[in-house]
Amino acid sequence: MTTPLPTVRTIAELRAQVADWRRQGLRIAMVPTMGALHEGHLTLVRRGRELADRVLASVFVNPTQFGPNEDFGRYPRDEAGDAAKLAAAGCDLLYAPGMDQIYPQGFTTSIDVGPVTRRWEGEFRPGHFNGVATVVTKLLMQAQPDIACFGEKDYQQLQTIKRLVADLDIAVRIEGVPTVREADGLAMSSRNAYLTAEQRSRAAGLNRVLRTIAGRLAEDPGTVVAACEWGRGELLAGGFDAVDYLAVVDAANLEPLERVDRPGRILAVARIGGVRLLDNAAVGAPSA
Ligand code: PAJ
Repeated sequence: MTTPLPTVRTIAELRAQVADWRRQGLRIAMVPTMGALHEGHLTLVRRGRELADRVLASVFVNPTQFGPNEDFGRYPRDEAGDAAKLAAAGCDLLYAPGMDQIYPQGFTTSIDVGPVTRRWEGEFRPGHFNGVATVVTKLLMQAQPDIACFGEKDYQQLQTIKRLVADLDIAVRIEGVPTVREADGLAMSSRNAYLTAEQRSRAAGLNRVLRTIAGRLAEDPGTVVAACEWGRGELLAGGFDAVDYLAVVDAANLEPLERVDRPGRILAVARIGGVRLLDNAAVGAPSA
């Protein structure tokens, strides 16, 4: 039985706790989330623990990053369960702001990080990264941590946040954390809960295909087009209903690569039923 996790719901309470830690000379790591926490999120908390003296997690399901036909209304919410998992993972404080703490009456600002957000997820989810960039900026300004941890699982999001923090001189170190996977390779995601058992058994094919492509490109860096064509066919034959994108890109700016002559990343989204499964893999020299 772990002790209940201290929880704050307002900017003022958050800042009072952070100021108290600062007076003690403690380093602070932050882990922003939308809740429905799993081992992937908890790994970010543990990484925060390694890098700092105190770890603060936020849970806020951010409406501005969901499209009109997306799952904002039915996104899984379980604050009590999340708090228990965070406490067990060594988190010190939960920030669970109400809507008025993030988007008060009259709020109109939106942050557009530009080119790195345009392709891939940005093309399939217009406005998504503006919503992410805006809420992440607010959370970082509200808490002002030394370090903030984000998953490589959402690779384009991670690169967007790195760009944003550099461009806006936000004094925080962004720590990218490798993707945590199920035993069969499926990247952990709160949205995996939407899969039926039968759909779930097909889902691991995505990571398998990405790893095979990475292997092929390590052998022959110039075969990007053929490898992606093969991968798309393999996914469709293996029970995916559609492939939104499957691309090999420059690991930093996410522009398409024709040959892997620098650190790259394979980015993919494939659908099973209505569920979009997102994954990525490193290619070429080490990246991120
Ligand atoms: P959410 O999807 O809850 O994810 C919170 C953090 O956990 C993100 O940094 C995400 O990349 C990371 N994460 C999710 N699954 C992971 C896995 N399997 N392995 C490693 N890390 C994983 O991403 C968001 O929320 C939101 O966009 C947010 C940044 C909180 C802004 O609203």
